Amino acid sequence: MSAASRHRVLSGIQPTADSFHIGNYLGALREWVRMQATHDAYYCVVDQHAITVDHDPAVLRERTLVSFAQLLAVGLDPAESTIFVQSHVPEHSQLAWIMECQTGFGEASRMTQFKDKSQKGGADRSSVGLFTYPILQAADILIYQANAVPVGEDQRQHLELTRDLAQRFNAKFGPTLTVPEAMIVKETAKIVDLQDPTAKMSKSSAPGCVFLLDEDAVLTKKIKSAVTDSDRDIRFDPVNKPGVANLLTMQQAITGTSMAELEASYADRGYGDLKTETAQIAVDLIAPIRRRVVELMSDKGELINLMGIGAGKARVTAGETLEKVYDAVGFVPLPR
Ligand code: TRP
Repeated sequence: MSAASRHRVLSGIQPTADSFHIGNYLGALREWVRMQATHDAYYCVVDQHAITVDHDPAVLRERTLVSFAQLLAVGLDPAESTIFVQSHVPEHSQLAWIMECQTGFGEASRMTQFKDKSQKGGADRSSVGLFTYPILQAADILIYQANAVPVGEDQRQHLELTRDLAQRFNAKFGPTLTVPEAMIVKETAKIVDLQDPTAKMSKSSAPGCVFLLDEDAVLTKKIKSAVTDSDRDIRFDPVNKPGVANLLTMQQAITGTSMAELEASYADRGYGDLKTETAQIAVDLIAPIRRRVVELMSDKGELINLMGIGAGKARVTAGETLEKVYDAVGFVPLPR
């Protein structure tokens, strides 16, 4: 299929951690890599979304660089896809303003992520940027006329808003924006916390989280210390044996071996073997990614060059959409 006739996908990831984790990789990033072959893919590090809550500038800068490096290290290819940093493409914010003017205050108030994220300090102390976060996200998508948006279940409501805004805009100002489909990446591999297998794996609980940038020894130790249970048999039973099921899930997700086969191979063996082998499989996956990230981070000039190439490609598409949108809403164009 020629690149021009491929469906376009766009997705974004926040640079809010020093490292992505294996759940991010198996649940999302690996899918992004696969879609490069079949789609016209746009992937961005959404640094503007990362300032909707308190942040430290030096930390954000470093995390944006290392996030971008990880996208490349997992196999996203700047020659095949458009990989960029949100703040390098000012058209996102320009479109966001216009979409803010299409969004009802009540409509924005119903976004559950805002309710969750503002709960700690209260809505009064939250930034207006946190409130309008979903509208910037809508702009991220609409500015590229994306056909589909691969995201997790937690983003469904933001995708619905995006679709509503595109439809509303088109109805009011004439057909201008592509109405995108949510492509909810079903959690084929639901990876849970190694220390608390009742919770989803999360960067906020480091001992239970396998980071892409964990050194081999650290990673091995974390997996070998995973909480299991006081039984001995190894079977996939996420309700009664969530810790054991999690290790099996990781193996299955990484190697593609079926659960039945895995269970059979552990029929007369113990937790020690399960842990050692899971750790080895994880190391084999992660070590090359980590090494590539270290390499990329050792030459920031080159890394920033790659960001520039992505931004340049992104701005061509984004600029075309913005011009149509500006015209549709009645802004007077200057002669070129
Ligand atoms: N809100 C998304 C998340 O937290 C990140 C995001 C920002 C995004 N802009 C996007 C995802 C555009 C998909 C498309 O995961």
